[in-house]
Amino acid sequence: MVVKSVSEIIHSRRSIRRFKQKSIDIKFLKKFVDCGRVAPSAANLQPLEYFIVSDKNLCAKIFKNLGWAGYIKPKWIPDESERPTAYIIILVKEDLMKYYKWDVGLAAENIMLAAEEKDIGSCILLNINRDEIRKIFDIPDSLYIDCVIALGYKLEKAVIQDMVDSVKYYRDENDVLHVPKRKLDDILHINKF
Ligand SMILES: Cc1cc2nc3c(=O)[nH]c(=O)nc-3n(C[C@H](O)[C@H](O)[C@H](O)COP(=O)(O)O)c2cc1C
Repeated sequence: MVVKSVSEIIHSRRSIRRFKQKSIDIKFLKKFVDCGRVAPSAANLQPLEYFIVSDKNLCAKIFKNLGWAGYIKPKWIPDESERPTAYIIILVKEDLMKYYKWDVGLAAENIMLAAEEKDIGSCILLNINRDEIRKIFDIPDSLYIDCVIALGYKLEKAVIQDMVDSVKYYRDENDVLHVPKRKLDDILHINKF
């Protein structure tokens, strides 16, 4: 495997929504959570907990409660042959929720970059049915279900391109996902506006 620098991993990570049906070693999944665990945390309160879903039947159950790629029309979801093979659910202790969004964002990115290091694709999802997910896994009410990170070995190619006039990602005729990103010169201010 080619060794990539941190900045190369950051740049090569894209949201991946089509996956090979090959399971991910639980050791890897635990390692990804461990990378989330050490992310920065406001006042070091560490309100996050993590739930790994790797069992095939449970993966099928959670899949029904996820919303995919809102910009792709007509409405699209991964086919049965390309669904995620694991998930990490990020949970937040209800009594420590003040700055939780920053903590979740930082932990989630750590998890997705750790996956990218292993060439494992990921997609963070907030378009999820929290009530159903709570029921499936019997998650206690004291934990808020923030997001789900879908994971699996990549079955799609995604590339970034300079944004021109739309933020909408799209698939081209070869099914390559194009993700517009604002150009550095358009968003960077050095010492003055
Ligand atoms: C907070 C947040 C919520 C997201 N929710 C969803 C989602 O529910 N479904 C989905 O398919 N993608 C979701 N995404 C993925 C974004 O669509 C994706 O990050 C964006 O298009 C940029 O692509 P990139 O991750 O490849 O840079 C979410 C991303 C973020 C940061």
